[in-house]
Amino acid sequence: MRNGPSTSAADREHPTPSAEFDALFHGEHRSGGFARVARLADPALPEEIEPFSFLSTDLLHHIASALALQPGDILADLGCGRGGPGLWLARDGHAKLVGIDFSPVAVAQARQRAALFGLDRNARFVTSELTATGLPDASVSAAVSIDAIQYAPGRTAAATEARRILRPGGRLVLTGWHPRTPGDPRLSARHRDTDWPAVLRTVGFTAVRCHTRTTWTDIYLRIYRTALQMGDPDGDTALAGLQSEARRRLPTAHLLRRVAVTAIAPPNGVPVT
Ligand SMILES: C[S@@+](CC[C@H](N)C(=O)[O-])C[C@H]1O[C@@H](n2cnc3c(N)ncnc32)[C@H](O)[C@@H]1O
Repeated sequence: MRNGPSTSAADREHPTPSAEFDALFHGEHRSGGFARVARLADPALPEEIEPFSFLSTDLLHHIASALALQPGDILADLGCGRGGPGLWLARDGHAKLVGIDFSPVAVAQARQRAALFGLDRNARFVTSELTATGLPDASVSAAVSIDAIQYAPGRTAAATEARRILRPGGRLVLTGWHPRTPGDPRLSARHRDTDWPAVLRTVGFTAVRCHTRTTWTDIYLRIYRTALQMGDPDGDTALAGLQSEARRRLPTAHLLRRVAVTAIAPPNGVPVT
């Protein structure tokens, strides 16, 4: 799982195809290797979430508080994967959920997992693109994207789509990585120039705030180190994949910091610049 305005170098990096995610989600369904490592790295993380991301308990609670869901709200989870984080947030906020992901394998697993959260009637999952969700204009009260939006084939296009589906005043919370030093040549194109607040402001979001906490970055690094400490994956393809990513990413991971960016959709009629 590789983590990572306008047509920047990051936009030009080849998007990861859905078939690659399909294979990863098949592996995770068989072994649960990623979720097991995530729980070892952060034992307080609710067991049923089984994230396929670098979510931590502290970050989860930060997201819940930033979303400020009200009973009956509709939450969109953009790049929902196997569904757990969005399902947990919707249940916590007494909201309904619509999950979006371009991997049909992830979407099928998320549909099956909704019952674990008691949300089988109040959650639905759609196979579609971050840049073209298929959801109607202004149809959701809030949106979250956990370690997913950086994969979109165009960050500005994904942010514009998030703005389009949000009702005016609706909140967006996204998580990802920023370079500690903007433009750092040691980082991959996906991360080197990432500036989510700039992307969100460009498409008209207001009240854009970027938060970071040492503990979020610590858990990111701990997930990689824990995976490597587990040694021989013994046929666990999800663990093997995470170990391979850890070997590639750990040498430069300290050059990044985890961020959560919150923003509010503007009133109707404010143009996308
Ligand atoms: C790192 S995973 C995070 C999954 C989930 N948010 C979680 O926290 O467990 C990234 C997700 O984004 C999805 N994704 C990547 N590119 C996408 C795209 N262009 N359109 C829709 N979904 C995409 C992948 O299929 C994957 O489920």
